[in-house]
Amino acid sequence: MGRSPKGDRPLTILLGRNMNVVVLHGSARKGGDSDTLADRFLAGLRETGTCEVEHFYAIDMSVAHCRGCGACSAGRCVVDDDMQRVYPAFSRADVVVLAAPMFWGYMTSQLKTVFDRLEAVASPKHFGGKDFVVFVTYRHYFGSTVEWLQRITSAFGSRLHAMTCRTYDPETERDIPIGEFPDRLEEARRLGRAIGGARSAEPSPCRAASAGARKTE
Ligand SMILES: Cc1cc2nc3c(=O)[nH]c(=O)nc-3n(C[C@H](O)[C@H](O)[C@H](O)COP(=O)(O)O)c2cc1C
Repeated sequence: MGRSPKGDRPLTILLGRNMNVVVLHGSARKGGDSDTLADRFLAGLRETGTCEVEHFYAIDMSVAHCRGCGACSAGRCVVDDDMQRVYPAFSRADVVVLAAPMFWGYMTSQLKTVFDRLEAVASPKHFGGKDFVVFVTYRHYFGSTVEWLQRITSAFGSRLHAMTCRTYDPETERDIPIGEFPDRLEEARRLGRAIGGARSAEPSPCRAASAGARKTE
């Protein structure tokens, strides 16, 4: 690790630490409400240091349903599909961002399918120490997704930051594009700054990066 000119503080603290970030895009609409909040969050995060960000758009991925076969108890899911790209990225991530619109009272089925397959890494070893950031956009209700995430992050020793945003006007019954909520977009950016700042101030990396190609943003 580098040292400051005086040799008293690690340079990573002064310059901001590199963060590994995974974004699980759960929406059926690329660039929709939840994606836009996630983008603003990433902008805030980048203000505090460098980020290696991997985006996974569940709607475009080939992810089979979990078979419940239990073979992953040996440490690896045996189903060979796009989840095999997610596992290493997820494991090395410091920050996991979920763009999670509500569909019929819960996260979208494509995001739920990805989470079912995360059963293969469902342990404090893979989940612990991470910041989970969820952007739930909704018309009427957001509780189920947030409650579930509270339970798993608490059980596995990670932190949850949930931002919920109603994108609907019940009086006019109009869906309101997230762009019409500049305060909420700014809130997402500030959340990125806050989490990035807090992680940069930590004395040592939470986990070592594993091998694999990564995209630096
Ligand atoms: C098929 C479908 C089902 C939906 N079901 C719900 C729901 O059960 N509860 C809710 O609050 N909003 C529901 N919504 C509204 C979306 O969650 C909301 O418009 C959200 O902002 C969309 O985010 P996105 O642009 O990131 O996809 C539904 C929308 C669609 C298209």
